[in-house]
Amino acid sequence: MPTYRIAPSILSADFARLGEEVRNVIASGADIVHFDVMDNHYVPNLTIGPLVCQAIRPHVTALIDVHLMVKPVDRIVPDFAKAGANIITFHPEASEHIDRTLQLIRDNGCKAGLVFNPATPLHYLDHVMDKIDIILIMSVNPGFGGQSFIPEALQKIAEVRRRIDAYLARNPGREILLEVDGGIKVDNIAAAARAGANTFVAGSAIFSQPDYKAVIDAMRGALAAV
Ligand code: DX5
Ligand code: ZN
Repeated sequence: MPTYRIAPSILSADFARLGEEVRNVIASGADIVHFDVMDNHYVPNLTIGPLVCQAIRPHVTALIDVHLMVKPVDRIVPDFAKAGANIITFHPEASEHIDRTLQLIRDNGCKAGLVFNPATPLHYLDHVMDKIDIILIMSVNPGFGGQSFIPEALQKIAEVRRRIDAYLARNPGREILLEVDGGIKVDNIAAAARAGANTFVAGSAIFSQPDYKAVIDAMRGALAAV
């Protein structure tokens, strides 16, 4: 059975109590803190930056997964690395030099990855697999929490799973996570896992409920049945 990781998106947390929120959600069994960065330019919303990453860093030892929805990308990468990010992903359309940005993230000590919007083709993976630690498939258009899962994403996850497995067969010892983000709930997480995802972002599904552990346990139960 694959190792499944649950990554709550703090976009749907109570920003007035963010330290407590990240502690609670990790104590409730989550694996990774998903940190959504929006710039009101690449996406039509504005959220949180390196200062907030730095502020939550002491509250948990869990990995912080920074999802950059910003353009340009490179200027802000070292700031997030210094603020304690462990994983940094970006959208290939937002970088003029994708290989350079991936290398920049790794040079700053973080794991690097590309994010694919629902309509973004996968060809951006073609020549950079050696620099990729994580691939994030969006199952909503980026910009907001609480949107509905786009079912077409399942076929895309399956295609990425084939690419990753073919790559890993040629490069044993490497690890590449396959993450899905957008509209993930207890009732569709298993379908995403069957398609090949192993890391699951969930914002509103977790933070809209009073009992985070109950939701995370239910997600793990659904994953155990895959
Ligand atoms: C969307 C963000 C997602 C979002 C997930 O642009 O990247 O991480 O917050 O929220 P839910 O799970 O509510 O779709
Ligand atoms: Zn995200």
